[in-house]
Amino acid sequence: MREMIDIIVDSKTYKAQNGSLLIDLLIREKIKVPYFCYHESLGADGNCRMCMVEIEGQKRPQIACDTLIKPNMQVRSNSENICKVRTDILELELINHPVDCPTCDQAGECSLQDFYMDYGLHNTKITIQEKVKHAKHVDLGSNVMLDQERCVLCARCTRFTDKITHTHELGIIGRGDEAKVSTMPGRKLDNPYAMNVVDLCPVGALTSKDFRFHQRVWFLQTSNSVCHGCAKGCNIYIDHNKMKYQDDVIYRFRPRRNDAVNGFFICDEGRLSYKDLQENRQESILLYEEETQENKALQELKNLIENYKEKITLIVDANLFTDEIEALVAFAKSISATLYSPLEIYKDENFKDDMLKSANRAANYKTIENLNINTTLPTKNALVINFNHPLDFEADVQINFTTHKRGKNRLTFPIAAFSENAGHLTNEDSIMQECQKAVFKNNPAPTIVEWLQKVRS
Ligand code: SF4
Ligand code: SF4
Ligand code: FES
Repeated sequence: MREMIDIIVDSKTYKAQNGSLLIDLLIREKIKVPYFCYHESLGADGNCRMCMVEIEGQKRPQIACDTLIKPNMQVRSNSENICKVRTDILELELINHPVDCPTCDQAGECSLQDFYMDYGLHNTKITIQEKVKHAKHVDLGSNVMLDQERCVLCARCTRFTDKITHTHELGIIGRGDEAKVSTMPGRKLDNPYAMNVVDLCPVGALTSKDFRFHQRVWFLQTSNSVCHGCAKGCNIYIDHNKMKYQDDVIYRFRPRRNDAVNGFFICDEGRLSYKDLQENRQESILLYEEETQENKALQELKNLIENYKEKITLIVDANLFTDEIEALVAFAKSISATLYSPLEIYKDENFKDDMLKSANRAANYKTIENLNINTTLPTKNALVINFNHPLDFEADVQINFTTHKRGKNRLTFPIAAFSENAGHLTNEDSIMQECQKAVFKNNPAPTIVEWLQKVRS
């Protein structure tokens, strides 16, 4: 641990670690400083020159991303001179920019737009006809599209493939006006984390094929959640939008920073897993495969529980929230059922890697273990009540509480998916995390806890 010292920024004193990066202090203390190339996960590159500040005793402005904090340092981040420097650098960045913001997917979350409003607002000296033209639709692979004209050559994307995934698919080729991001000859952007370059890109040069042209970002609402793709429990934002009279729709998952779990990133499979929450959903209550009324189905369930007393097996999906699993433990006890959550089915060694992806594809298996629930396969079942576990079980009668459509059974009850409910998960490193309710449907399926209340009433 480095020594903590005082540093003065814009006449205010802050505590900072001696020898740490000045830009980290500015970001942490929310002191406005524009930057393109610096990123906390990638470190300094010093190529964009946007993060200039004045330091007492230095003749010229310095870049904050490559300046180490020293004792007695005095910094000016918003003097007239520094704002003029930023305007001039921005003008250079924009010389060949196509200014196609109205059709750009980054509009609304673009650093270039923001900085232009803060420091630009200059009259352009270059006409559209004079701008150097580059390719506008380059398919890099892995769901990522490149618009070379919008690129500010910050090299975040190339550094990501060099420093984070070590796959080296991307580079900057050419000089001056001809410089552009490109894949290496004969290669595609092709790694399980490739779509993170879309989040890293500070402008609209890299966009997600999956998201582009689907929704303007200012219409989206954002909720904090946790990916259910594996036991790592990467933190995510769920971006969704409920148009008037229509159902709430999820448009994308984005990584949410958590240094103790996933840092800044998520895998592409987890990122795209939002689609599963909206496809093939079970929406109606079924009795012998026919739609039925809730009262009738609940009565049938109660009769079966009564008739099969002491011979009931209750199965729990290891992706349910802890709150739901605990409620099911209590419910099993109240009806004298035996509780199982077979975990072997979730194992997938092919999925595992040494970055984030876990071989255990159950988001909350740790809670199943912590609550000492039997994780083997049940044998000799009379009545099985399955709460969203992916397996089907041999039994005289099976009842399903399920998010998605599945095989024929005596009774089927639709349940809310994790995005339609709030709750907690414990990841494989025993870190407990919270998911907010993101999606509000017009006709929501009850949560498991709500169904249990109905069964008891
Ligand atoms: S494509 Fe985006 S991330 Fe890559 S160098 Fe250009 S602006 Fe930076
Ligand atoms: S590593 Fe696992 S938890 Fe993280 S994004 Fe991928 S699937 Fe989701
Ligand atoms: S952020 Fe400092 S030079 Fe780019």
